[in-house]
Amino acid sequence: MSPALDAAWQALEAHRATLGRISLARLFAEDPGRFERFSVVLDDLLIDYSKNLVTTETLRLLFELARAAEVEAWRERMWAGERINTTEDRAVLHVALRHRGPEPIVCDGRDVMPEVRAVLARMKTFTEEVRSGSWRGATGAPITDVVNIGIGGSDLGPQMVCRALAHLARPDLRAHFVSNVDGAQLAATLARLDPRQTLFVVASKTFTTQETMQNAASARAWLTRALGEDAVARHFVAVSTNAEAVARFGIDPSRMFGFWDWVGGRYSLWSAIGLPIALHLGFERFEALLEGGYAMDRHFRTAPLERNAPVILALLGIWYRDLLGYSTHAVLPYDQRLERFPAHLQQLDMESNGKRVRRDGRPVDRPTGPIVWGEPGTNGQHAFFQLLHQGTEIVPCDFLAAALPDHDLEGHHEKLLANLLAQGQALAFGKGEAEVRAELAAKGLDEAAIEALLPHKLFPGDRPSTAILFRRLDPFTLGRLIALYEHKVFVQGVVWGIDSFDQWGVELGKELAASILPDLAPDATPKPRDPSTSGQLAHLRRLRADPRA
Ligand code: F6P
Repeated sequence: MSPALDAAWQALEAHRATLGRISLARLFAEDPGRFERFSVVLDDLLIDYSKNLVTTETLRLLFELARAAEVEAWRERMWAGERINTTEDRAVLHVALRHRGPEPIVCDGRDVMPEVRAVLARMKTFTEEVRSGSWRGATGAPITDVVNIGIGGSDLGPQMVCRALAHLARPDLRAHFVSNVDGAQLAATLARLDPRQTLFVVASKTFTTQETMQNAASARAWLTRALGEDAVARHFVAVSTNAEAVARFGIDPSRMFGFWDWVGGRYSLWSAIGLPIALHLGFERFEALLEGGYAMDRHFRTAPLERNAPVILALLGIWYRDLLGYSTHAVLPYDQRLERFPAHLQQLDMESNGKRVRRDGRPVDRPTGPIVWGEPGTNGQHAFFQLLHQGTEIVPCDFLAAALPDHDLEGHHEKLLANLLAQGQALAFGKGEAEVRAELAAKGLDEAAIEALLPHKLFPGDRPSTAILFRRLDPFTLGRLIALYEHKVFVQGVVWGIDSFDQWGVELGKELAASILPDLAPDATPKPRDPSTSGQLAHLRRLRADPRA
């Protein structure tokens, strides 16, 4: 760690030690301009971070930390196509996928933009063929259902976007997502489909992922049983970087949409992995999503750190994780359509920054990525918000909402927004003793009853949240939001000195599953393992031995 970075951490630790308990009520009272100063406005997008547990001095020290970690230089290294994914020796250029300007983006001495545009052009043509009905299934029937078979980044991003923007989709071209190797998911999906009108998109960067290969093989068998081998060409396309494996599977390379090793799985929805988005919503909407990502990229690349939304969100997260010791972060969209947004961010954040060693292999000396979780409001209010308000854990929260709905049901959206505003206020300012006493007295409770109930009815407040508010949930805005979080995660990884773009932690489980699989066969003699795993395996083998029992 550089001396400057070390000094910046020490300054923050000293500041933390002298700060004492932070009172949001006091901070707002002392600074009437806190909301204006502690929020960023990007057109209709407001990011209000004034309800966070930071002072002006905290933020100054956090910006110093970012400068000492050379966030700006790392940002430029990313855009310059340097191999900042050091453990995989790869560039990190998902920003090129949504780059809409005339400038080249160079990787290994070559401008990648012509290839990016060429794939986009092929996606556009194919999308228009399917949507217009000129692309037909083997029997001549038009395609009505698209099934994306992929997992992780080859599922979560496109699925989240398709769900979020389903109000813009054509009802006669449905999108389905199958990810789990649990056949229950594929079986339930296929049960609703007509093979003559179904198009499968097999999405896998590596085209070796066990779950995806199993699901693709089963889907292929389902299709060929009904329509014969020759039908595969009209009903299967692939999205991958592995042309050979795609050909081996039986999909003609002309039906493959490519991307590149400089696109990480969790950053790939902007690539051909977004094909189901384009098919379901229309290519122009996919382009609007890219435009939104590009708008956030320009902001991230040009705004000074002090006004830079991804940088600010990243530094707040570091303050909570490393200085205040909060281990989780809740993402709470007040929008049912963003139901899968927390799941997408889980992969983005936890697969990127769930690391315990630095780029140089030495251990990190402070906590890294938080546990990211969340559910849409108002549902969460009736489930886990109790803990947010009165539990012993402090959970920094992001609240997201659109000012305007895309339905015409009266009376709903105002209630939704009122609840969002109420939660942020309640978390920040709580409810004090005097107020609770007065309320209970007004209800006619005697002194003893008031004393007994009082601790249960208090809300301590000073629980931090950030509000992210925008006009409508449209493709452009969703693009901005996804890119906002991507860059937040990037900045945090830089400050922690970790490689945010590898995912070695997922490998061991895959290897062990491959070695255990043969031991589940009825006639196998299981290999020796630890007593617990062997015991579980033996139990499952016994239960499976007699399926009729
Ligand atoms: O879970 C590990 C991972 O490699 C993710 O990073 C990736 O998004 C997912 O598996 C799927 O990989 P692929 O697209 O190669 O099938």
